[in-house]
Amino acid sequence: MNFLFKAYCRTYQGFMRFATKFMKFREPETLEGLPALAEKVKSEGLTSVLIVTDDVLHNKLRILEGLKEDLADKDIKFVVYDKVLPNPDVTLVEEGYSLYKENNCQGIIAVGGGSPMDCAKAVGCRVARPNKTIQQLQGYIKVRKKLPPLFAVPTTAGTGSETTVAAVISDHANNTKCAVNDPVLIPKYAVLDPTLTVKLPPHITSTTGMDALTHAVEAYIGHSNTANTRDKAVRCTKLVFENLERVYFDGTDVKRRRNMQYAAYYGGIAFTRAYVGNVHALAHKLGGKYNTPHGLANAVLLPYVLDYYGRTAEVALAELATAVGIRGVDSAAKARLFIAAIRKMNEDMNIPSVIEIKKTDINGQEVDLEKDIEFLAEQAFKEANPAYPVPKIMSKEDMKEIYRKVIRIKED
Ligand SMILES: NC(=O)c1ccc[n+]([C@@H]2O[C@H](COP(=O)([O-])OP(=O)(O)OC[C@H]3O[C@@H](n4cnc5c(N)ncnc54)[C@H](O)[C@@H]3O)[C@@H](O)[C@H]2O)c1
Ligand SMILES: [Fe+2]
Repeated sequence: MNFLFKAYCRTYQGFMRFATKFMKFREPETLEGLPALAEKVKSEGLTSVLIVTDDVLHNKLRILEGLKEDLADKDIKFVVYDKVLPNPDVTLVEEGYSLYKENNCQGIIAVGGGSPMDCAKAVGCRVARPNKTIQQLQGYIKVRKKLPPLFAVPTTAGTGSETTVAAVISDHANNTKCAVNDPVLIPKYAVLDPTLTVKLPPHITSTTGMDALTHAVEAYIGHSNTANTRDKAVRCTKLVFENLERVYFDGTDVKRRRNMQYAAYYGGIAFTRAYVGNVHALAHKLGGKYNTPHGLANAVLLPYVLDYYGRTAEVALAELATAVGIRGVDSAAKARLFIAAIRKMNEDMNIPSVIEIKKTDINGQEVDLEKDIEFLAEQAFKEANPAYPVPKIMSKEDMKEIYRKVIRIKED
């Protein structure tokens, strides 16, 4: 890759590292247990709120019933937007935003995985910046205006969105996904209640948990760490190694579910300041193009990207290996064993080593995989550069190589 381009990326990252020293990354106030939420909403002086969630949580699992009763008891009006889908699209954000305005809401409660939480954050962005579209707000620090009070209640243990600066929204019309990053998006409150996650099916438990691990690993091996992000990344990594497989096999273990909620939370704190890396850039584009679940895309890509980094990430990966009790004769061996342990975890939890896509697209056209890969690499390269402080800057060709390894056309 062009030397000047690399130098430009590293200079930009250095500048951001310097600038973020002067930025305030607050953490949300954490509440333990959903029953504590309504009182907090009242203490904020809110009388009308928008609840953003999805159909499964609202109508099948009915996990909002207690919250709705508590809000009604306290004379807090609420309206529920439950149409959020995985990898939420900008059109859903607009629907939620309309409901917010029609009901004169003053705050937002997000109940769900990363999809409802990000959709809620994006609605908040539209409230703060009514004249800007989500596409115009993507990138770094473009919102710069206070959002309405946001209460985030995670029901998966992966994204950490309840504590991060980011909202990742798909733009399906353009086959892509955009990330809005701004400290104003950090929710005011995060409600951690592990009982909400016990019905999470095993395949979502495993893949969302691997998303948390990916946040920790990408933050730790990147060049923009601080003592705090390193500490949180190590905590997250240890919690994932100690608990994820166990909750995959026994989802009712509330103690381990709680540990995974903290893993996700710490992973979120780590990457919100130290950034993610190429795994996320590549994964987001698979989500935008094929609707691949975010956690699955990360889980599959993580070992391939770590292999690619080779010696540039060896020392950091060896440190993470030591933290989880992996022994080896030197850093190279420990790093290799750490990557092998990730592959083994994926295998044990039945996470595939490739992403399968349909032979035909939504218009019935046969997929031209090389053309898709060209497009995906172009988009992923734009997301990763110049901002992500990765151990080794990936060229578009390198990205294409990785996509060729992980995408398979499913035979009917
Ligand atoms: N903002 C951030 O910092 C950040 C970080 C990583 C990922 N993301 C984004 O988050 C989204 C992915 O979120 P996710 O992985 O949490 O999944 P999700 O919110 O898309 O949910 C996945 C599925 O799990 C179901 N589900 C959720 N909670 C459940 C529960 N308790 N029991 C049973 N089923 C449940 C949902 O109904 C849905 O069908 C992606 O769009 C991704 O880009 C955001
Ligand atoms: Fe993620």
